[in-house]
Amino acid sequence: MTTKITWLGHSSFQIETAGKTILLDPFFTGNPSAILEAATVEADAIIVSHGHGDHVGDTVDIAKRTGALVIANFEIIEWMGKQGIENVHPQHIGGAHQYDFGTVKLTIAHHGSMLPDGSNGGSPCGILLKLDGGTIYFAADTGLFYDMKLIGEEGIDLAILPIGDNFTMGPADSVKATKLIQPKRVLPMHYNTWPLIEQDASAWADQIRGQTAAEPVVLDPGGSCSL
Ligand code: NI
Ligand code: MN
Repeated sequence: MTTKITWLGHSSFQIETAGKTILLDPFFTGNPSAILEAATVEADAIIVSHGHGDHVGDTVDIAKRTGALVIANFEIIEWMGKQGIENVHPQHIGGAHQYDFGTVKLTIAHHGSMLPDGSNGGSPCGILLKLDGGTIYFAADTGLFYDMKLIGEEGIDLAILPIGDNFTMGPADSVKATKLIQPKRVLPMHYNTWPLIEQDASAWADQIRGQTAAEPVVLDPGGSCSL
């Protein structure tokens, strides 16, 4: 059994594991780097890291069409209920829950979480996924924080880190984060979607190779890797 991870552009990922399809932060409409459309994407579960529009994205439309289970913090799940989404599971920071595809634990992230209509989206989260083949830490939108070292103690096979700068960690801090997390592999996201967050991923990969023990995995939108 393997787990396949596909970058859908920006912070959106498709994870195929245990016969299920999971979407992380599915943002296609209005995302210049999107490679799929909200009207046709399939999902069994959708995990949302925080309330910002480029992360909640198309969750409501996809969940209504597919019936996918929506997993997020308590406040975002309350908001999903008001949008008419009934198949939901609230969690919160530090809590783990076992689903039929694997275990999801929410972690801290240093960021904001206001929902697109101005509603309170609670605290932003990172997502720790224990799946067939290993453990993924999806940091979501965050600045660097020292407790990433603690998250690393879970034994991370693949860390997915923002490198875009301005709204999140930039390349230099994501190299520092990699040193704290000590993942086997590290994959960059949240860059090149718009000019404001343009980055040179191959220069970043050189820094990861030179300064850490992790292997960089640089994908183009639509590209995949396995756990
Ligand atoms: Ni954000
Ligand atoms: Mn964002």
